[in-house]
Amino acid sequence: MESLVNNLYKNHDLDDDGLKLLIDAKDTKYLFEKAVEVREKYYGRAVYTRGLIEFTNYCKNNCLYCGLRAGNNGLARYRLTKEDILSCCDDGYELGFRTFVLQGGEDMTYSDDDICDIVREIKSAHPDCAVTLSIGERSFESYKAYREAGADRYLLRHETADEEHYKKLHPESMSLANRKRCLFDLKRLGYQVGSGFMVGSPYQTLDNLVSDLRFLQELQPDMIGIGPFLPHSDTPFADFEKGSLERCLNLIAILRLMFPYALIPATTALGTIHPLGREMGLKAGANVVMPNLSPVGVRKLYELYDNKICTGEEAAECRGCLERRVRAAGFELVTDIGNVKKKIM
Ligand code: 5AD
Ligand code: SF4
Ligand code: FES
Repeated sequence: MESLVNNLYKNHDLDDDGLKLLIDAKDTKYLFEKAVEVREKYYGRAVYTRGLIEFTNYCKNNCLYCGLRAGNNGLARYRLTKEDILSCCDDGYELGFRTFVLQGGEDMTYSDDDICDIVREIKSAHPDCAVTLSIGERSFESYKAYREAGADRYLLRHETADEEHYKKLHPESMSLANRKRCLFDLKRLGYQVGSGFMVGSPYQTLDNLVSDLRFLQELQPDMIGIGPFLPHSDTPFADFEKGSLERCLNLIAILRLMFPYALIPATTALGTIHPLGREMGLKAGANVVMPNLSPVGVRKLYELYDNKICTGEEAAECRGCLERRVRAAGFELVTDIGNVKKKIM
């Protein structure tokens, strides 16, 4: 096991069999140690923070795993106005956020002009902040317009890099090819790009996970977000098992060794599967947290999966809560735009 970790540490790469052994490793002490060492070399003990604004829970898609899917009729839907969003950013700025992530379902009610307008206004109110969009698959022209309006980063998980597996998680109308097209378009337009996948999604195999890692090597993203699959009761996947916390942590460490420079969040899904999941993520090599900045009144309505954390009244000040947690885990939450470090490998 140690020699596999040493190889990955040295070459940022490993053959498929080695990766599979590490993904399911039981004795992970050395793996996590090396991951944290690499993360310290690039980023010290700093943990970057992003203010997450979930601005619409409307979605035209029907991903089989997601609680926001169009087919979920039981869900009350909401949209935030530009004024609501700007006010979230103003509050967030006071709390120390220097990155705002606008995340939503694929809601075509917001035209490209609307999105550009929102981006422009945030950038003009907070010129020292980065704006990240996470609004799904769009055309090259749309992505170009958002970029010209000032958007700096874009998050779009590939979800699974295997064609067959992709089809089992998504309806006919969606394709892995278009997802990849989007990701490469975003890179070409000069965005800092984030991708990633769910761990333990229905029908996922070890080979699928290796394909995910291989695809990320091809894409060379700046950010990589992963989290365990968690079932949502009003989806076709309601009765599937949740993903494994251990596999997820091993993959975070593997990603850190493969992509030393990357920004890797300890995700909300990780915090949902285990009360200390995000802290464990940081100790496995993650270096970003994304507290919820959405208005408390709508948080429960952005339920991608059951029992999502940070949705209650007590979460009004998620940042303070996370700051204490990060410090208790031995790291330091910083007020910083948190750009990706140069890729020196
Ligand atoms: N469990 C875990 N993660 C999910 N996501 C969507 N639904 C679920 C679920 N049931 C993730 C997807 C998406 C991100 C915003 O949330 O990976 O890209
Ligand atoms: Fe819509 Fe995204 Fe959920 Fe798919 S994962 S249904 S695109 S919000
Ligand atoms: Fe969100 Fe604790 S981190 S409420």
